[in-house]
Amino acid sequence: MKKIVISTGGGDAPGLNAVIYAVVHACYRKGWEVYGSRNGYGGFLEIDEMVRLYPRDVEGIYSTGGTILGSTNKGNPFSRPVENLAGEIQIVDVSDKIVRNFNRMGFDCHIAIGGDGSLDIAHRFAEKGMPVIGVPKTIDNDLEKTNRTFGFDTAVSTATEALDKLHSTAKSHNRVMVVEVMGRDSGWIALYSGISGGADVILIPEIPFDMEEVCNKIADNELHDKHYSIVVVAEGAGTKSGQSFNKGKGELGRDEVILGGVGEWVASEIRNRTDKDTRSLVLGHLQRGGSPTTFDRLLALRFGAAAVRLVEERVFDHMVALIDSMMVAVPIADAIVMRKKVDLASDKIMTARDIGICLGDKDPRMPDE
Ligand code: F6P
Repeated sequence: MKKIVISTGGGDAPGLNAVIYAVVHACYRKGWEVYGSRNGYGGFLEIDEMVRLYPRDVEGIYSTGGTILGSTNKGNPFSRPVENLAGEIQIVDVSDKIVRNFNRMGFDCHIAIGGDGSLDIAHRFAEKGMPVIGVPKTIDNDLEKTNRTFGFDTAVSTATEALDKLHSTAKSHNRVMVVEVMGRDSGWIALYSGISGGADVILIPEIPFDMEEVCNKIADNELHDKHYSIVVVAEGAGTKSGQSFNKGKGELGRDEVILGGVGEWVASEIRNRTDKDTRSLVLGHLQRGGSPTTFDRLLALRFGAAAVRLVEERVFDHMVALIDSMMVAVPIADAIVMRKKVDLASDKIMTARDIGICLGDKDPRMPDE
């Protein structure tokens, strides 16, 4: 008989509920108890935030977006903003208290579902002696040591569907439409949705872009009697001259800056450099919402079930991962060293170039003029 606690941390991603569903059911069949910690580590600090989960509590949730446990990306227990008696905000480390409460509550293992930030925190708890297993989540797909994270496929589908819809309005008005998509410092969402959604230009953080190349592509379209263009730009993309775009740190307690603004900047450059009517839009959190695709649902259910197998085998401080279509365990430490970037030698990059998509640079395979 074991007692497991599960938490969801960082930005939500479609498939979180499917992982919870799989963990609850797999544990229940073994006669184990499962608890959910609300809002990341909330349940380790406030008893009311810790909820017992039975199969009836998770009925049908595998197909729903969001997380029944709630999540936060400003809840790092190692540096938590807390208001003192004088009303001042102080940054305090509550990690020891969390470990104490974990032991006091009699838990055997913590299954932490999260991206690189949450898994980094989970790994730090493992170093403090908490038995932890990680489950890789993020729409950004930027975690190393797993071919995929769940949430990515749904985000790409949402972005692709949006691009499909933009084609008709762009064409009706002979316009350039610039679409900013999420992905942080990696271009996975932009690249996959841009290729699948018929973009003319895709700008990703891995390839600093040159506006001249972008405008050349738009001019080339005109030359070939195509009077509209679709530009997909990843929120983390930056210019060849080193300009990047963000909105600052945002709310207190966040570990990272809020990215954004590049789409509107690219649109205004196009407007100034060409005579094209240009509009921009930010897809934003639409990409995080909705029901997970079949791919994400299945992946999330497999991750959840595999995590419970790791609990049984006592393979702690490891993350479940998808490698060559197999479920494997990898040390969490290896997955969080750096963010997974788009490989510029990959066939997806070649496909984009081969079918005439501009990636904001000169195709390196073309001879110099
Ligand atoms: O990591 C997921 C993600 O959606 C990123 O793509 C994006 O930059 C960020 O989270 C947005 O965070 P928030 O929900 O705090 O605005």
